[in-house]
Order: sequence, then structure tokens, then C-alpha cells
Amino acid sequence: KMEGKCPFGGDRIGGVEGDSPTLSDWYPNRLRVELLHHNAAGANPLGEDFDYAEAFNAIDLEALKQEIKGFLTSSVDWWPSDYGNYGPQMVRMAWHSAGTYRIADGRGGAGEALQRFAPINSWWDNGNTDKSRRLIWPIKQKYGSALSWADLIVLTGNCALEIMGFPTYGFAGGRHDAWEADNATYWGPEVWDAKKENTPDAMVTRDKRWRGQNGDADYDLENPLAASFQSLIYVNPEGPYGKGDAMGSARDIRVTFTRMAMNDEETVALIAGGHAFGKSHGMVPAAEIGMPPEIAPMEAMGMGWHNPKGSGNAENTMTNGIEGSWTPNPTQWDNDYLINLFKFEWEQTKSPAGALQWTPVDKNAPKTPDAHIEGQMNDLMMMTTDIALKVDPEYRAVCEKFLNDFDAFTQAFSKAWYKLTHRDMGPLERYLGPEKVNQNDLLWQDPIPVADYTLVDAADITALKESIMAAGISVSDLVYTAFSAAVTHRNSDKRGGANGGRLALAPQKDWAINRRTVPVIAALRSVMDKFNGEQKGDKKVSLADLIVLGGCAALEKAAADAGFTTAVPFTPGRRDTTQELTDIEMFTWLKPVADGFRNYLDPKFEAIAQDVAPEELFLDKAQLLTLTSPEWVALVGGLRAMNANHDGCQHGIFTDRVGVLTNDFFTVLTSTDFDWTKTDGKGMAFSLDDRKTGKQRFTATRADLVFGSNSQLRAVAEVYAGNDGQKRFVKQFVKAWDKVMMLDRYDVKV
Ligand code: HEM
Repeated sequence: KMEGKCPFGGDRIGGVEGDSPTLSDWYPNRLRVELLHHNAAGANPLGEDFDYAEAFNAIDLEALKQEIKGFLTSSVDWWPSDYGNYGPQMVRMAWHSAGTYRIADGRGGAGEALQRFAPINSWWDNGNTDKSRRLIWPIKQKYGSALSWADLIVLTGNCALEIMGFPTYGFAGGRHDAWEADNATYWGPEVWDAKKENTPDAMVTRDKRWRGQNGDADYDLENPLAASFQSLIYVNPEGPYGKGDAMGSARDIRVTFTRMAMNDEETVALIAGGHAFGKSHGMVPAAEIGMPPEIAPMEAMGMGWHNPKGSGNAENTMTNGIEGSWTPNPTQWDNDYLINLFKFEWEQTKSPAGALQWTPVDKNAPKTPDAHIEGQMNDLMMMTTDIALKVDPEYRAVCEKFLNDFDAFTQAFSKAWYKLTHRDMGPLERYLGPEKVNQNDLLWQDPIPVADYTLVDAADITALKESIMAAGISVSDLVYTAFSAAVTHRNSDKRGGANGGRLALAPQKDWAINRRTVPVIAALRSVMDKFNGEQKGDKKVSLADLIVLGGCAALEKAAADAGFTTAVPFTPGRRDTTQELTDIEMFTWLKPVADGFRNYLDPKFEAIAQDVAPEELFLDKAQLLTLTSPEWVALVGGLRAMNANHDGCQHGIFTDRVGVLTNDFFTVLTSTDFDWTKTDGKGMAFSLDDRKTGKQRFTATRADLVFGSNSQLRAVAEVYAGNDGQKRFVKQFVKAWDKVMMLDRYDVKV
């Protein structure tokens, strides 16, 4: 009898508490389809109609910058500025915001201000960046939604550099804030008790991500990661495992900065440039410091790392553990960092917090003023990662160049800083404001020359569709080619996609998965040459547009053959780029290791399928394309109906009417007429046998059957398989198709 008792038993509430065990505790290998709906519109308080570009463009950027700069040279009591200048800590905040970027999957970076949310806000390496953000909150508050956190963080970094005498290369706004923690990004395999995160023990046990030993030929870091340890932006400042090994540190720096798409020169420019400013803070042993923001007590109001010593700030500050400044003038852009690094021998010492650092052996070396105590002079400091630049031969050569040519150093840092902070913004069309650099010559921006010709109109499009359909290319091949062009896009860093026509350029034209597109592109090129040759004025069609248009024309035919008159949307305006403007190495990162849409799995990944299931890779790709689960499911069903598989692979083509936009894929997938058995030991390939006759009807991969086996995907597949599902499927497929074709069209999207 419940009388007089709390109906909940007084212990737990039923739903939102979210304590373990959750679904993923019970079923750790479940496919987390819900990640597709992460950062959903419902989480965005600005609403879908909010036009950030318009709001941002209305800001007087110069006035805003003056306000930021004015604040940077002030000081508030709750967090006094070092040397009376918040500049250095703001440079670090901006660097850490951008520094999570990694080239392998394009995730991380400054683009969404993810530094505000866990886990990043609580990473040990982001110690006290919570203070930096809170210090600029009044400016954020004043400008409100017209200035995203993501833009403000980068802009404040730029303003900081400028007030310290450094000429920045440019600044562009246009970053859209995220509204929830990034639960979809893999930050590495290590799990540890976040409460013990501050302890040095935690720092040395986080090495599951490395293969081989530092120094071995096969020494490498698990992809897509770009940080050497969990909760660091890049590398341990005390060297691998905190042991002060400078050569080992150089190797880690090279691996991790290369993963950020930085070469040796850019890497040295960034580290040496950044450490011209500010200081490291290490006055209190890490074990005495409070919890990081995510688990700090409520009254800390989102700020963490409570420091019990004295005021807990100013001369008592504890951030990372190392203590001191690199230069005698830490708020002035100069070459003293490199001058002193090379002029003196450095020996290992310990900070008050017990961290390993380096001090000049020569006691006559210049000193640096204390950041707070009037009249006190301190020894200069270097970290093991700084010494690394001196001992590694290649880094050393760059350092020597910069040491002898301060202007070259200044320019290299300026350009590298611009790249670092804008790397994940995608095409120039996304750049806002008067300080963006308009030159189209920064290779990392994947440039596409602007159109100096008139675009095709509706009548031309109709005529072109007819020419394409008359060119003897199959519906399947046209769809395959258009999709192959568009599918490289990733929302993470806005790279890839059909615009630019790079499917016809190296490296993409040479990828095995694109083999099927080569003859199609040749045929489309003929259509293009003929059309452009016939024009009297300056009208032209690009190959990039024709590739997409071919897919649209083919789909209209496929839909008509299924009994639906459907106009597949087509928006012209894609431009062709050149081989010279295509950084082959950087585009190689876009090469798919798996692409379930085209039923492709790199053999290397088949071999490790027990660790990373193909359907997980497929989900990852769907997430990078920003697909919802209904869009994902519809796209796959349509592509299978079109036989848009790589290289003649027949898996998943559950239809006898190839090239007709039917929902056959779903009716077969959900049918009880079949026995599904695996045809290899590993469960990579399957046979669909007729239960009555025992005969094989179709074959499939995991990228097919997951839509019938996974409960959430099946729920959607059932909708498309229903007797009323065909029409809905065609509609949803065309919508999803257009979405994918338009993902990179920042020239026409708001
Ligand atoms: C400070 C490490 C690269 C800019 C620091 C601190 C550490 C550190 C441990 C002290 C934090 C504190 O206790 O307050 C590293 C490592 C790097 C690296 C290991 C890579 C190998 C960079 C880069 C930049 C940069 C690329 C910018 C371009 C700064 C600045 C400070 C700083 C401006 C001073 C912050 C302040 O005065 O509050 N760095 N850093 N660092 N870092 Fe780096």
C-alpha cells in the first residue's frame, strides 16, 4: 500500500535524470542514430529564421574592436589582469578555441564556440579560459545575438594581438554558435574519473591513442585525433608523459600540428609567436585545485578550478602548473622568445606547483617583471615544448630563419594565425565583415575562382537536361556521379562538395570509388563544350553544374518511370576550379574509407570491422552531411533503386526495376519472406533467401541491412515500405537529394 509514501519511493524521478544505466550502458555497441538530431533546431533559442549574417553585418566592427581593446587594458577585481593587460590570456583562449580542429574529419575548431560546453570547457588544458570568457561577457551581452560567442572569441584574440603591436592578417565573422555539448565528436579512447582529472597521475596514464613508442618508425596517433592526450589541445607542455624529453616532444608536436593541417613553418610560427606573449601560471599544486566547470559546485556559476590560495588569482594564479614568462616584455610583439631560446642554455627546474620547466643556466640572462608584484623580477621560463623547437633539426632551421628575419616571422605568424582561426569556416562566401581577406589565393580555403560569365537560365537548363539524357549515359551512372561529387562535403569544416568540380581533378578523379564517374565526366564534358561553344554572348555552364544537373535529370526520369511527375530542384551557379588551386594532400583527407551510400568499404576498414563497424562509419558520414534519420533512410533507398553502388557492386539492389525510383528497397528490407544469413565469417556480407524456395534473391552488406535491423532506422524504413509509403518516399528522397546537392552552396544560402 502506497499510502503516505512518495509515489516515486522518494528516490528517483522517472525520466530526465539520465543516470546510468542508460541505453548505451546496457547496449554499448548500439548505433547512436539519435546523434543525427544533435543540435536540433529546437535547441536554438534564436529560432530558424534568425539571420546571423544580417545581424553581424549591421555591427560597426571598428567600434566593437575599440571597445574590446579598451577592456583588454583594464583590470577587474575578481580576476585582475596580468601586467594590466588581458591580451595574452585572450590570445590563449582564441588559440584553444581554434586548436581543437583536426583535418581528418574536420571536427573541432573555433566555428561553434564549443569551448563553452563540456567536455571542452572542462579540459585541463582549458584551465581558466572560463575566466577569459566571463570577462568578455559584458561585451557579448551588449551586442547580443548579433555577435556570436564563436566570433567574439576569435575577434578578441585578434584585438589582443593588435594592442600588443602585432599586425593581424584579417578577421572574418560568420561563425554560428552551438547550443549544446558536442556529444557526437570522438575525443579519444581514454575514460577517467573527471574528478581526478587535475592530478598528475591522470596526465600520464592517458596514452591509449598512440601506436608504437615515441621515436619508433611506426609511431602514430589514432585518427581522427589531433591531441596527444585526452583533455589537451595538443601536447603535454612537459613533454610526453611529463618527462621533459624535448626530442620526444618535438615528435608529438609534429604529429599533432600536422593533424591540424599545419606544416613545420606554420607550427614554429604559431608556437614561437604565441609564446611571445603572456605567462604560464603554476603557483599551487594541481591536486589542491577545485573541480572543472562542468562539475563545479552550483554557486561557482559555471566557473571551475577553484584556487584556495589567497585571492585565488593574480600572483596566486594556478592554471597549468608551469610558472613564468618566456620574454622580458610579455605584452609586446618582439623576437625575444627566439632570441633568448637560442642565446641561452636551459636547465630543468620545477615550478612552485611542481611542474617540470626550464630556466636559463646563465644567471645573468634577462629577467622578466612579475605580472602583479611591483618591482619583483623573475627568471625567464621555457616549456619542454619550447625547447623542442630548438632541438629538432627541422624546427630549428625554421627558428633560425625567423631569428634572422623578424619580418618573415611576423608575416608567417600572421598568416598562420588567420588560418588557425578561420580554418573551419569553409568557402569565402561564409566570411563576413570588412576585415575579411578577399584574396582567393589561400590554398587552405579550397579556392574556386569567381564566375566571370552569365549563368544558364531555365530554358538552357531544360535544353541541357535533354542533351545529357541523349548522351548515352545511364540513369544509374548519372546519379552515381552527381552523388559522388556532392558526398565529400562535411559540415564540420564546410569542405568538399560538388562546387568547384573537383570530382574531375586529382586526387578525387583517381580514387577507386570514383572510377565509375570517369566516363560520365568525359561525356558531360562534351555536353559542356558543345553548349559553351554554341554561345554567342558570355553565357557558360560549368562542369560542376552539369555533374549535378545530370543527376537531377536522371532522377526526374526515374521518378516518371515510377509514375511520379517530379521536378528535382536544380540551382545553377557552381563554378569550376583548377588543379593548381587544389591542395592534393589536404583533399586526400576527404577520401572516404567507407561510404554506405555507394556501398563501399575500404578493405583496410573491413579488416578492423570488429572495432569500428561499417554502419558506424556510415552514421558518421550521415552526420557530417547533417542528414536527419528520415533523410538518411530515404537517400539510401533511392540510391539503391538507382543502383548507385561503386564499381558494379550488387549488394542492396533489392529490385528488378533498376533505375526506377521505387520503394522496393524498403519492401524487401521489411518483408518476412526472406531468410537473412551471413555469407562470410565476419558478417560483412549477407544473402537474402526466399523462405519458400530457399533460393537466393538478393545480397546485402551491413550498410543495407542496418536499415532493417536497427530499431530506429527500421521505424523509418517501415514508413517508406507502407502501402502509402511510395509517394512519401519519392518526396522525401528528392528533398534529401537536393539538400545534399546544396550543402556547399554558401553562395546562395543565408
Ligand atoms: C600559455 C602550452 C602553443 C599562445 C601557455 C601555457 C601553456 C601552454 C602550458 C600556460 C597556461 C597557463 O598556465 O596560464 C602550449 C603548448 C603549445 C602551445 C604545449 C604547443 C606545443 C601555443 C600557440 C599559441 C599559444 C600555438 C598561439 C598562437 C599562448 C599564450 C599564452 C600561452 C598567449 C599565455 C596565456 C596567458 O598569459 O595567460 N601555453 N602552448 N600557445 N600560450 Fe601556449
